[in-house]
Amino acid sequence: MTTQSTPVRAHVTGWGRYVPDQILTNADLEKMVDTNDDWIVSRTGIRERRVAAAHETTASMASVAALRAIRTAGLDPDEIDLILLATLTPDYWMPSTAALVKEAIGNQRAAAMDVSAACSGFVYAFSTAQAYVTSGLAKHVLVIGAELLTRFLDYTDRSTCILFGDGAGAVVVSASQEPGGSLGIELTTEPQGAYMIWLPAGGAKSPPSRETVARGEHYIRMEGRETYRFATRTLASTALASIRKAGLEPSDVSLFIPHQANIRIIEAVAKGLGLPMERMYVNLDRYGNTSAASVPIALAEAVNGGRIGIGDNVCIVAFGAGFTSGAATIEWTADPARGIAGDASVRAADVNVRLPVDWDSVDPIPEALAELMARDPLHVPLDDVVPGEPEPAHREVHA
Ligand code: ACO
Repeated sequence: MTTQSTPVRAHVTGWGRYVPDQILTNADLEKMVDTNDDWIVSRTGIRERRVAAAHETTASMASVAALRAIRTAGLDPDEIDLILLATLTPDYWMPSTAALVKEAIGNQRAAAMDVSAACSGFVYAFSTAQAYVTSGLAKHVLVIGAELLTRFLDYTDRSTCILFGDGAGAVVVSASQEPGGSLGIELTTEPQGAYMIWLPAGGAKSPPSRETVARGEHYIRMEGRETYRFATRTLASTALASIRKAGLEPSDVSLFIPHQANIRIIEAVAKGLGLPMERMYVNLDRYGNTSAASVPIALAEAVNGGRIGIGDNVCIVAFGAGFTSGAATIEWTADPARGIAGDASVRAADVNVRLPVDWDSVDPIPEALAELMARDPLHVPLDDVVPGEPEPAHREVHA
């Protein structure tokens, strides 16, 4: 006789985010390249983005977001079994940024690795977490998306430098036999788009040299129109496949958390799914495209802002270099109120990533941003999204 046991499911039990204080506005960019606020807002929806300070790194931002997610979950850092960190801007080629985060958060026992799938990285890492949790290999998995893109941008290329910003978001995925949690996942990769967004030099094909630097091959390059076409073609279909795998229809999803690349792409997703824009969470006006960090930052902000409640179906969906795309449909089961307390319990200044001994790295701030970074940052409270209130209007800063 066989006994039927209740399947183990993967639930989001913690969430957290961190963005640097310094704001780079469209007006600031107008002084660097031939662009203007009207063009950027009408073509992308972006008004400002955050820039990491000289002492900050992908690992440091990731560690703050991670600790906030762990506190929100009510866990001790050492209860985490596996750390997955999605990024295209690791601190170093080696060790993994996840290893640095493990030490910074005070975890002694987790396995740790980075995940490389560009802007889809967080969804790819989330799906890996689900596989570990539901197979019984791990009980609590920390999934982080963290990026420091402003150090990989060519501030003479107006088609890319206006788009990206820095930040980190994290969730804890935990095993539970309760119903709900992650219900359906869809992942795709279309390598014919491999060179539509890429960073040519620094890898084995083109190791860093004076020549690669002189040619600016250490900066992100992108064919914007082709990428745009891929995104509008793929995002809605990837989300739909994930929703159907969950046994649902788009109308059953209360809130979509799409990758925050471009407002017009998000509008196309809403149209493709036959849903109003109110079902799409948008914060790209304030942070720009933070690549693998965009979905977890938006998710944490949406929960803390009262946009997600227990029993709601949420769909996270992203696209990026590769070309990759990924979506996960999740029945939310955690008390949203835990997030604000979790965020408040971790001060960024108290989190330290160990630095190498006897090693002076060069000033990491790009020359074009030096003046901005010398300015006092405008301190915007992280929890500036008040439940039930509209999102804050654009703030006029830096006369
Ligand atoms: N300011 C003013 N003019 C500009 C700017 C700028 N910042 N950038 C480009 N232009 C000009 C172009 O030179 C072009 O001029 P021309 O007609 O005289 O040649 C004109 O504006 C139109 O350019 P397009 O590239 O056709 O503009 P488009 O409407 O496609 O918008 C954009 C460009 C915003 C980049 C859009 O294509 C886009 O969002 N693509 C998707 C990008 C994306 O999401 N990338 C992230 C991928 S995720 C990852 O993995 C990293």
